[in-house]
Amino acid sequence: MENQQLLNIIDQLTLKEKIAQLIQLSGVAFDAKDSEITGPLEEMNMDLDTLHHTGSVLGISGASEVIKLQKEYLKHNRHGIPLLFMADVIHGYKTIFPIPLGIGATWDLNLAEKSAEVAALETAVSGVHVTFAPMVDLVRDPRWGRVMESTGEDPFLNSEFARAFVRGFQGKDLTNDVGRVAACVKHFAAYGAPEGGRDYNTVNMSERQMREHYLPAYKAGLDEGAELIMTSFNTVDGIPASANKHLMKDILREEWGFQGVLISDWGAVKELIPHGVAEDEKEAAYKAMRAGVDIEMMSPCYVHHLEELVQEGSIEEAEIDQAVLRVLQLKDKLGLFENPYRGADELREKEVVLSAEHRKAAREVAAKSFVLLKNQNQTLPLQRDKKLALIGPFAKSKDILGSWSWLGAQDQAVSIFDGFVAKTDVANLVVAQGCEVETSTAEMLAEAIETAKNADIIVLALGEAAWMSGESNSRASIQLPAVQLELVKQIKALNKPIVTILFNGRPLDLHGVFEESDAILDVWFPGTEGGNAICDVLFGDVNPSGKLTMSFPYSVGQIPVYYNHFNTGRPQSGPYGTRYLDIPIEPLLPFGFGLSYTTFTYSEMQVTSTVLTKDNPIQIQVDVTNSGELAGEEIVQFYIRDIAGEIVRPVKELKAFEKVSLQPGERKTITFTLTEEQLRYYHSDLQWQSDPGTFELFVGPNSRDVQSIKIILK
Ligand code: IFM
Repeated sequence: MENQQLLNIIDQLTLKEKIAQLIQLSGVAFDAKDSEITGPLEEMNMDLDTLHHTGSVLGISGASEVIKLQKEYLKHNRHGIPLLFMADVIHGYKTIFPIPLGIGATWDLNLAEKSAEVAALETAVSGVHVTFAPMVDLVRDPRWGRVMESTGEDPFLNSEFARAFVRGFQGKDLTNDVGRVAACVKHFAAYGAPEGGRDYNTVNMSERQMREHYLPAYKAGLDEGAELIMTSFNTVDGIPASANKHLMKDILREEWGFQGVLISDWGAVKELIPHGVAEDEKEAAYKAMRAGVDIEMMSPCYVHHLEELVQEGSIEEAEIDQAVLRVLQLKDKLGLFENPYRGADELREKEVVLSAEHRKAAREVAAKSFVLLKNQNQTLPLQRDKKLALIGPFAKSKDILGSWSWLGAQDQAVSIFDGFVAKTDVANLVVAQGCEVETSTAEMLAEAIETAKNADIIVLALGEAAWMSGESNSRASIQLPAVQLELVKQIKALNKPIVTILFNGRPLDLHGVFEESDAILDVWFPGTEGGNAICDVLFGDVNPSGKLTMSFPYSVGQIPVYYNHFNTGRPQSGPYGTRYLDIPIEPLLPFGFGLSYTTFTYSEMQVTSTVLTKDNPIQIQVDVTNSGELAGEEIVQFYIRDIAGEIVRPVKELKAFEKVSLQPGERKTITFTLTEEQLRYYHSDLQWQSDPGTFELFVGPNSRDVQSIKIILK
């Protein structure tokens, strides 16, 4: 549709109808089944007429339900403006993929894109038009519950994943490809940096820091074409994001030129009152509208007060028109004026949702998301003829989908035990639960010990319950629950090899399990096909290749601990060096870390020149050889350090990586190109530029075990 046609529609709307387009209600308001409540459901106190002109709804899906509702809605909407359906499809619709922290650990952008493409198709045939994903918040504090939705602590890697997810959700032609959905990048901005790791808490950082580390992933998602962005719940420099003009107008709209829809998070406009920047709903509506929030999700400030604010002259009607235009442009982009039902198709829904093909994709992504944290004496892969005891609360558990898996059904999930059973050549297996995730009885423990006694190898399936991470679920202690540590202790006393499978929505403090285990496989929350994928890796049908995208702290006292930190003026160890008296300053496991069943050796790195100029990029080369006996994949990482900047530079910054597949004995040359542009950063005047001088370049299998070479930027 031409923009003028949309403007003509807006001209015909009453002010009240315009405002209704800027409201988003939960499905509950429409009496829909399957709708989800993720925050306080306010008394919206809306008349039926406003409901009939409401712009969008969240949390309704299912082709027949959506078609029915859209038909009903259009009967009442005076201008034939279709209703927009949005939902939280974060890591799968019904075929659930690993949590995003796990997808990040694949370091595989094609797989990330594929996971979003599958999710988009299932979502689109079920009638939903927009997903509230990807979540691209950078996180340095694993206590924060929503770390499971992030791809980790690195701005470059997060930006690459943001792009990949947007590509997967939206495809190349959103208007005509009805199997895709519009993406909503969230949560703008810096939601992943709450003080103390406590959800919704204050975020406090300089604008320079925010621009350098926290903003790039949102920008990357928008540059890739994401149609929407969501405000965050937190304050940014003392002003809640949903009222933050500098963030939304100066940066998002003016500097970045974003033309799409800006939606608040659930209830976030009304939350301006408890935050302490609005006295009442009216002031909250005023501040959010002035900051440029187009759609208010699930609070009533716009519907109750915008009309009055326009009538008294505090808000120009033109501002409302602009917001409505963006909403209508999105509806038009999705082709809803021509086909208000878009991809909703009951037949296709039956065919594609949870199809064998989608489950296969989920199994592949899951297996590649696992990170082998330890493998002493090559305990893994397991030999199929050994006597195995599978012990622990996750042995038969189907609570493996992870938080934010909305319609993902546990009864469709494959547990580890199911996965073992499906490997028909594995005959010698005994199972016991040992304890629940947080509780136990003496009988359960005794049964587990008895069961494990005659085994050759004990496989412990341990971890956090899915509800222990996710929105509002921050933890102050990030160890395994005490009953599980007790189980490990008792099993250890049997003096047999222990393989631990860890389920977790965040990096954990591994005291009480790391030393005690011979091998540890971190499987995050692996999704619907989790148990099959775990057994693929346990028995060596898939060689693990995942690497951490967040540091695993030595203990909670180190948090935040991240690889791209500053050096301090006293980096040396010993008295008056930067240190803790009681723990190391390095994390237990560094960013980028992950083992394989094979080994990789790196040749000495070479550079094409030790002088880099604006016009002459240089190349960095290293040969990587599979020096073991199994085929495998290695993620080769390239970091830099600016030795002396105008602003202190991190001790390492990831600039590139390559995932390479190698047969035993095979060698490949990996080449990275470094340009002057990659050495730029925000200076004290917020200018994006580089500093001439010495740089150190690093190549290695993780952020710790690297070799280096120095070059000069002229
Ligand atoms: O999309 C979510 C957001 O991430 C957290 N609050 C609720 C929104 C809609 O469900």
